[in-house]
Amino acid sequence: MVESELTSVPDTGWSEQDSADFIAYGPEFTPEGDRLRETVLNLLAPAITDSETPHVVELCCGAGQLSAAILERFPSARMSAWDGSPAMLAETRETCAAYTDRLDTQLFNLAESDWRDVNPKPTAFVSSLAVHHLDGPQKQSLFHDLYCALNPGGLFVLVDIIMPTTPIGLEIAAKQWEDIVRSQSMAKYGDLRALVAFERLGWNFFLAPDADPIDKPSSLVDQCLWMRESGFQAVDVSFYRAGHAILSGRKP
Ligand SMILES: C[S@@+](CC[C@H](N)C(=O)[O-])C[C@H]1O[C@@H](n2cnc3c(N)ncnc32)[C@H](O)[C@@H]1O
Repeated sequence: MVESELTSVPDTGWSEQDSADFIAYGPEFTPEGDRLRETVLNLLAPAITDSETPHVVELCCGAGQLSAAILERFPSARMSAWDGSPAMLAETRETCAAYTDRLDTQLFNLAESDWRDVNPKPTAFVSSLAVHHLDGPQKQSLFHDLYCALNPGGLFVLVDIIMPTTPIGLEIAAKQWEDIVRSQSMAKYGDLRALVAFERLGWNFFLAPDADPIDKPSSLVDQCLWMRESGFQAVDVSFYRAGHAILSGRKP
């Protein structure tokens, strides 16, 4: 269920205050955001080039930076940017203002399955920093449903935080993430305001993995296996940094 059908704000556990915080500091909270987006674009390129009418669906588009980058890089592509937060969708429309003729934005709930039969079948699904709000079985059924929903030859690219499998892995990810936020805050503001916000908001999942029940990341290996079990081929990991990874798989 999307756009005209979903009229009320879905109960996703993510608040409009979370959206405001992430709109303010998301770029500094995200490790190497430019490199993440560039990697996603490079992964998408073959599937988009192969398609006569490329259509990319971004699940949980947030403030729309990735959608805007896709629209800029692929002038033949149409983009659907979906999110459960009205504030995020408003931000996406602003971020993508130069491309409104190729963009639709819609309220949706990632956890529901009523939106998953997309017609016509898209060329690609992308999602960044949101699928970890689903638990393991929900991720498995999402991966299966995205596989079924994709056009043959289509691609699924997942950017997300990853659950380390050992206590030392958690410590390493926590420290690396904090270091990156510190240096990105200095680069953007010349001071530590984004790091202060990161700490005040308790955003570093790896420091306190049980603190917020909304966060349910799964391990890298589990997610690769679930993609394979769903039918995806060429399952790969193209980026890993500070507990954040990019996975992808292609439907034959
Ligand atoms: C951490 S932000 C990431 C935003 C963007 N994708 C990025 O990488 O910058 C998480 C996003 O997921 C959305 N979200 C979280 N749970 C959701 C759900 N169950 N259904 C729809 N959107 C959801 C939030 O509204 C928010 O925009």
